[in-house]
Amino acid sequence: MPKNIKRSWAEPYKMKMVELLKMTTPAQRKKALKEAGYNTFLLRSEDVYIDLLTDSGTSAMSDRQWAGMMMGDEAYAGSRNYYHLEDVVKKVYGYKYLVPTHQGRGAENIISRILIKKGDIIPGNMYFTTTRLHQELAGGKFEDIIIDEAHDSENLFPFKGNVDLNKLDKLVKKYGAKKIPYVSIATSVNMAGGQPISIQNLKELRAYTKKHGIKIIHDMTRVAENAYFIQEREKGYANKSVKEIVKEICALTDGATMSAKKDALVNIGGFLAVNDWDVFEEARNMVVVYEGLHTYGGLAGRDMEAMAIGITESVDDDHIRARVGQVLYLGEKMMEYGIPIVKPIGGHGIFVDAKKFLPHIPQDDFPAQTLAAEIYLDSGVRTMERGIVSAGRKANGENYYPKLELVRFTVPRRVYTQAHMDVIAESTARVYDRRNKIRGLKMIYEPKYLRFFQAKFEIK
Ligand code: F0G
Repeated sequence: MPKNIKRSWAEPYKMKMVELLKMTTPAQRKKALKEAGYNTFLLRSEDVYIDLLTDSGTSAMSDRQWAGMMMGDEAYAGSRNYYHLEDVVKKVYGYKYLVPTHQGRGAENIISRILIKKGDIIPGNMYFTTTRLHQELAGGKFEDIIIDEAHDSENLFPFKGNVDLNKLDKLVKKYGAKKIPYVSIATSVNMAGGQPISIQNLKELRAYTKKHGIKIIHDMTRVAENAYFIQEREKGYANKSVKEIVKEICALTDGATMSAKKDALVNIGGFLAVNDWDVFEEARNMVVVYEGLHTYGGLAGRDMEAMAIGITESVDDDHIRARVGQVLYLGEKMMEYGIPIVKPIGGHGIFVDAKKFLPHIPQDDFPAQTLAAEIYLDSGVRTMERGIVSAGRKANGENYYPKLELVRFTVPRRVYTQAHMDVIAESTARVYDRRNKIRGLKMIYEPKYLRFFQAKFEIK
């Protein structure tokens, strides 16, 4: 027997139920794409074969979570499931106070309104669409303080989610610490390609912010995936469990917003969690206005139960290894075909560099939007633009021109097989083969907020 047989990971679960998919013809996809204005958000999901639009709310729940749904206590106030969720959030993440919300942006709205005053500056490790919008709607201005490496899709630095403390220090010197209520820190930075922040960087940030009386608010949407990368890459963490690392990350921050539709393996739900009683009190008052009573926050009892169980499953080492392992498998396949992707491969999906894939299409003609449309056309695989369309416009109406012009192939958790990953990589390679013939797009409808969701295009 040869000595160097590798040991592959495999999923720590088996299938109990399957969802049948519709297969489409090229002609059907061409028609569907035109009707959707070349925006993959506007496709009907029935017309999609493999759906990599997002990993948000698209996970497969476990039999335990489904069983939990049957245990929903649908009381208006004081549902048993709320107390279960509160208990799990305290135990797994360590935050003291919990306010459930219908999803992540509900929590972003509340914390932004509480902590931000008009004219404040919110530094963060790269923007996220909804997070920045709520900060702006509350009167703040987002300032990117992520390290430069994050803006370079080829740079192999292992913690491209790190904060550049010099950039933060410059802001503090320019505006004064009083104008900076908190630093907005995401784990597994979505817009950078699912790149992690290190514990060491977080510790340095904690020390700096403590000195200046600035809070850290943690977007913990994909914290378990970040913890996995710390276990793999950071010195001194190889023997710690993902669960231990998650708790250590959270302990370095003052509060968190969570879109439980990702890491926490549910189809809907989120929360705000804080350590400061006064902030909690205000959040509890505010949630009644925007979401629902503070013991359900826009969720049914059964949703809270599924979330409580999902959180526990999400920090299991075997689960997260298989989850990130599947993403790595897809990324490595793409690299074998020479497709330009963001490196290192991130936690929740593959990000194809559309500027490198379609160098002949200028950013104003939406290369990433174009590429997402072409991939759908080829195989019915649905991906998402993360470039100039997602970046939107500044307050003065000018377009943001993000350095990264990406197409995101987001992998839902526990949903697709390795064979699906093969089909995705092969389809992308076919589009890559004919890339020189692809033309850009023209925007013909632009909504005011978060335009990427509803904008329409036609071929230029
Ligand atoms: N923060 C991050 C890092 C996110 O990725 C998302 C959602 C949110 C906050 C907002 O949460 O959708 O529950 O209101 N991201 C989804 C995505 C939409 O596809 O990346 P939400």
